Amino acid sequence: MSDRWYRELKREHYYRSAKSEGYRARSAYKLLQINNRYHIIRRGDTVIDLGAAPGGWSQVAVKLGAKVFAVDIQHMDPITGVTFIHGDITEEETLKKLEEEAGEANAVISDMSPNLSGHYVMDQARSIWLSTNALNVARRLLAEHGNFLCKVFVGEDYPQFVEEVKKSFNMVKPHSPQASRKRSSEIYIVAKNFRGSR
Ligand SMILES: C[S@@+](CC[C@H](N)C(=O)[O-])C[C@H]1O[C@@H](n2cnc3c(N)ncnc32)[C@H](O)[C@@H]1O
Repeated sequence: MSDRWYRELKREHYYRSAKSEGYRARSAYKLLQINNRYHIIRRGDTVIDLGAAPGGWSQVAVKLGAKVFAVDIQHMDPITGVTFIHGDITEEETLKKLEEEAGEANAVISDMSPNLSGHYVMDQARSIWLSTNALNVARRLLAEHGNFLCKVFVGEDYPQFVEEVKKSFNMVKPHSPQASRKRSSEIYIVAKNFRGSR
């Protein structure tokens, strides 16, 4: 059985499950797997979901009992229990809006991806830029002991980003969920217990 064949089969499996279970994106399973293991989101939490469209992660967070504030440059169809802010998180105006709406959060989760150019070095640098912005949101809006989850493309400046996250959280772990395609170089940084030094 070729690697490629197996990957396609797995992709198809998550796609079909997402459709039948009503999730808008199969990435929903990545968050479910991560949360089963690390308990990033708990019932009653306020969660900020960055790069939320089409809404798979927000759906999962609501299902886990959280109140969700979602941000994306792209439009997202409404989800009960989710307040959507249409904007670019790298812009201060969006950040201010988010701060006003959400106030303090228990978890900041980011699945943001840049528009892929096909040049990995450039895409990776953009991914780090988005992740750095997500970390800034976490530092600004997380309550003490809050959690952070962030997708990032692995590359030259990835270790430096991990070091930066470690400055603000007591537990930091890179995690590659099963629902992620094997060939992809994306990884999720799981960071728990915000030190509150903002
Ligand atoms: C992989 S998708 C997220 C999928 C989502 N987690 C789900 O489960 O449905 C990445 C998203 O990041 C968003 N994004 C990229 N740059 C952004 C930015 N600067 N501000 C806000 N959203 C951004 C894109 O518009 C895109 O919708």
